[in-house]
Amino acid sequence: MKSPVDCTPALLAIESSCDETAAAILGADGGLLASEVASQIELHRVHGGVVPEVASRRHLELVTPVVHAAMAASGLEIGDIGIFAATSGPGLASALLVGNAYAKGLAIAQNAPFLGINHLEGHLLSPFFGIPKSETDPLAHSIGLIVSGGHTLLVEIRGAGTYEILGGTLDDAAGEAFDKVGKMLGLPYPAGPEIDRLALQGDPKRYDLPRSMAGKDDLRFSFSGLKTAVRYLIPKLEGDYLADLCASFQEAVVSVLVRKTLLAAEMRKCRVVGVSGGVGCNGRLRAAMQSACREAGIELYLCAPSLATDNATMIAHAARLRWLSGLRTSLDAGIDPNWRLVG
Ligand code: KG4
Ligand code: ZN
Repeated sequence: MKSPVDCTPALLAIESSCDETAAAILGADGGLLASEVASQIELHRVHGGVVPEVASRRHLELVTPVVHAAMAASGLEIGDIGIFAATSGPGLASALLVGNAYAKGLAIAQNAPFLGINHLEGHLLSPFFGIPKSETDPLAHSIGLIVSGGHTLLVEIRGAGTYEILGGTLDDAAGEAFDKVGKMLGLPYPAGPEIDRLALQGDPKRYDLPRSMAGKDDLRFSFSGLKTAVRYLIPKLEGDYLADLCASFQEAVVSVLVRKTLLAAEMRKCRVVGVSGGVGCNGRLRAAMQSACREAGIELYLCAPSLATDNATMIAHAARLRWLSGLRTSLDAGIDPNWRLVG
């Protein structure tokens, strides 16, 4: 039986921090009733990356149909929604404003509360969405690895809203490294899924690429050396090297991500790991993380591929958990494009 403390009113969340316009609705028991994502990737592909003003204009066009589609799929009426949430940062200012203003407008019209959610918290908690309640709550103590286009973070979780950053990247984010190396190889943006696919046919040992580990107990990441090594290698290569180079590059990124995540778990004496963010879709990362965690006796939660890239389900999930832990946001609170997960 559900305990009453786990009940919230039905909740609608909007995500618009970058190039996905998304809306999701959770029922009072936290179950997913609807999740809609309208991607703008095609629109930005010609530019080789996301153009902020193009993104915000497209969010404006998409936000109403996306919210309406989610409402229709949920089977609820707008008056049934008791909490409205939106991503308030980090992200592109003009893009964040759209989802934020829309969710606040609905909250005011419905005389319901509004919650501003940190996009990174959405990713961080996404591996734990929909898991059955067990005696050991993974949120009580776990290590979260966020690997997205904008961020690479190792975080110690000690409950919803209680986080400590253990390490970030000194330069490029993991997804950014995939995208930049992909660009050098002439692959379309975003290149992560392309490299993942091409690497399946390649030999990961063909090219010896650097694995930046910094110090022994250092949980920070750096991918710029690897990126530069690929840049200098490409002109020297002949023949059909694409698949082998993709596999070798991917292996260099994955091995660092896995080793540092396990090191964080060891340093913090933690037996639970959650992996999230777009790069969390990567087939090799998922397989390598699974075998390393199995060997170390660590319980691994990999976020579902549909929750790995940007979506509003993860924002709704984080909003629900933070609502239950007492978070309330003033309607006067603005967006924060540089909002940090901690501090
Ligand atoms: O989490 P996300 O949708 O957006 C941010 O919040 O940044 O992540 C997008 C990133 C892109 O850099 C993309 O290339 C990468 O995730 N990505 C992948 C894969 N799928 C998406 N990287 C490696 N392998 C994949 N299968
Ligand atoms: Zn994201």
